[in-house]
Amino acid sequence: MSQIEIPPGLADVPVAKSAISFIDGHRAILSYRGIPVEVLAKESHYEETAWLLLKGELPTQRELADFTQELKERRNIKYRLKDLLKSLPEGAHPMVALQTSVAALGGYYPCKSVSDAASNWEASLRLIASMPTLVAAFARLRHGDDAIDPNPDLDHAGNFYYMLTGKEPSPAVRKVLDACLILHAEHNMNASTFSTRVTSSTLSSPYAAISAAVGTLSGPLHGGANEEVVEMLDQIGPVSNVKTWLDKKRAENPSFKVMGMGHRVYKVKDPRATVLQDLAEHAFSETGKPLKYEVAQALEKLCEGIYGVKGVYPNVDFYSGVVYQSLGIPTDIFTPIFAIARVSGWLAHWLEQLQGNRIYRPEQTYVGKTDVAYVPLEKRP
Ligand code: ACO
Repeated sequence: MSQIEIPPGLADVPVAKSAISFIDGHRAILSYRGIPVEVLAKESHYEETAWLLLKGELPTQRELADFTQELKERRNIKYRLKDLLKSLPEGAHPMVALQTSVAALGGYYPCKSVSDAASNWEASLRLIASMPTLVAAFARLRHGDDAIDPNPDLDHAGNFYYMLTGKEPSPAVRKVLDACLILHAEHNMNASTFSTRVTSSTLSSPYAAISAAVGTLSGPLHGGANEEVVEMLDQIGPVSNVKTWLDKKRAENPSFKVMGMGHRVYKVKDPRATVLQDLAEHAFSETGKPLKYEVAQALEKLCEGIYGVKGVYPNVDFYSGVVYQSLGIPTDIFTPIFAIARVSGWLAHWLEQLQGNRIYRPEQTYVGKTDVAYVPLEKRP
């Protein structure tokens, strides 16, 4: 058989047909089930967007009210899960805690059969509702504080903020956090979604698939980038240092990557970054504009002249970390927030994968040795 050229990272290779989200990376277009993400970030809220992703259409008023209530009823986590979180090292990254506890959740709420629609819906509700509680609980328990119980008077985004910080968010803070969840909810065949689909294709439980996706998201080339952006902005210091810092980094390493910039699909500025900036500026009128935001803007401007020719512009995570930090959210919780949002997209792909599923089992091109003689141990040096 003639050898097939494999594009590194499977760039441009379709691995599934999907009706969930659409991206045109040259025209800065992203839509969920046909609705532009800018509209959803402005008009919708996370619960409604999650339904849209899972079901394919906007909910009726009754469906949305029931869905919201069903999520609220599943926010509490078992005390044994809190014990599990408490038993993890204090310094463990919250993504480790999330991946572990999501896998463990499947032990408490086993999905009876992935061919049963009612079981699958129940697992979807459980995962969307529990993940904010797991993240907020670990964030507090690791420091010896008690976990805060969910507040049924608050919506998904507001309740997460409350469980994490102990404070009810102002309307502007709630809105920006809710919009961040919407903007991160789905993004076609990214690495963690592909991971969800590969795991789901074995007919594993959704808890196994989502836990695999959380692990995939944790890397700095994917969801971990927003933490690295904030660290990078810390390193830069004041706006006046931006050029000197970048010149030095590029001199040290010509293939240096600016965190939060570049994207496999977008060759223009990520539309989510633009929406996020608009919302952030609104929230900053309340929280005050952080210095890091001004540094990020200066870096974006400088990078445009250098990397624009390669189609490298800010992605959604260039500004999301700065926004979260201005809301008082710890840096290592940024990527878990991405996961809390993306779980609805992952679940939509899980459900789509199950329709006409065939196990993912690609080929490889073997480039290793053949006909190697086995040398007994005593004859080896
Ligand atoms: N800074 C500077 N140059 C960059 C950057 C960047 N952030 N990203 C890409 N480039 C350059 C590359 O050096 C390469 O240049 P070359 O052709 O001269 O060698 C060219 O642009 C193409 O880059 P690739 O690395 O081949 O792009 P790929 O599609 O494989 O990777 C990725 C995309 C991983 C996002 C990359 O842009 C990157 O590492 N960015 C920084 C990390 C980041 O922000 N990740 C978040 C992604 S979005 C998300 O998960 C929500």
